[in-house]
Amino acid sequence: MKGIEFMKQIHIKASKEYDVIIGEGILSKAGELAKKFIKPCRAAVITDDTVDELYGDTVTQALEKSGYPCIKYVFPHGEESKCMGNFVEALEFLAENKLTRSDIVVALGGGVVGDLAGFVASAYLRGVKFIQIPTTFLAAVDSSVGGKTAVNLHAGKNLAGAFHQPSLVVCDTDTFKTLPEDTFADGVAETIKYGMITDEALFEKMSGDFRQDICAVTARCVEIKGYVVAQDEFDTGMRQLLNLGHTVGHAIEKCSNLGITHGHAVAIGMMIVSRSAEKRGWAEKGTTDRLKKTLVKCGLPTSCSYSAEELARVALNDKKRMGGEITLVIPEKAGKSVLKKIPVDEITQFIAEGLA
Ligand code: NAD
Ligand code: GLY
Repeated sequence: MKGIEFMKQIHIKASKEYDVIIGEGILSKAGELAKKFIKPCRAAVITDDTVDELYGDTVTQALEKSGYPCIKYVFPHGEESKCMGNFVEALEFLAENKLTRSDIVVALGGGVVGDLAGFVASAYLRGVKFIQIPTTFLAAVDSSVGGKTAVNLHAGKNLAGAFHQPSLVVCDTDTFKTLPEDTFADGVAETIKYGMITDEALFEKMSGDFRQDICAVTARCVEIKGYVVAQDEFDTGMRQLLNLGHTVGHAIEKCSNLGITHGHAVAIGMMIVSRSAEKRGWAEKGTTDRLKKTLVKCGLPTSCSYSAEELARVALNDKKRMGGEITLVIPEKAGKSVLKKIPVDEITQFIAEGLA
């Protein structure tokens, strides 16, 4: 394919195998790329209003040119839209438009679109194929890969959902150029997370001029995620490592009424867990300082104003609670994190130590 400076294809070995194609300027080739994996059929593009304005026409034209006639469901942007109301509305839209089992859903947007559209695809007619076209850095490095789909309930984040792997992921890194800085930083937080979990070189790179190598950085994150998902697709063991900073992070998102975005909340969550782990001798000395320096350099927050009691109360509604214990991801040092169970009644103290 001419005119593409960098294109990388990563194969994901989940229960259903698929490819993630990462490149610059490949959005207008989405139809050609899809055709290599999915027979021409009708495509229901699900997106939010901001992304639709920027990229809706490019994607529908690319798909239609390659034999995928499109219908489009657009909802208002923002985390509040990842809700049951839009889930049901999108399903009704597909049914009214008589989408069949041989047709596809296309999730065009950030993690909110991907999670909602993926859940819709998992439920419609008991499951139809879908393509992820991530347009945020966060969706590219994390949510578009691995098959976790969900909506939020009033009680907490991602409490209703399904595992449903996409059939293809097409990631055009040029779309990151239109992201507001804060939204780009959400993806940076997840990238730093991968570095903290397993790749010290990636962690180090995030303190420097990583934007020059955005395709390679994206590809490295997808490789890590793909490896983890291949070992533990259904999140019963190793995959839980990907939740570094998330138990407290989800609580921060909830306490802020979703005013603090996912990546920003994960950044603060990682700081709290790291500081507490270091105080308990579970993490190498200096780990929290290193993490803090990198987060600050990338314009991410490192603290919040919520109390340990508030955060613990919300965190205990999270899916990561099992009986009387909660599994935390502990960063032992940059590049190595482990799972550790602690009793539920220790969580307030653990968070309090991390806040101080
Ligand atoms: P998002 O989807 O809300 O996107 C952030 C904002 O950027 C939105 O307003 C959107 O309209 C806008 N936007 C998207 N692409 C754009 C572009 N190219 N240019 C300009 N604006 C653009 O948020 P997000 O950070 O992408 O995703 C966060 C969500 O992802 C959370 O709900 C989180 O729980 C979920 N998530 C899921 C997984 C998973 O494995 N399924 C993993 C991590 C996060
Ligand atoms: N973002 C966590 C996971 O995919 O498991």
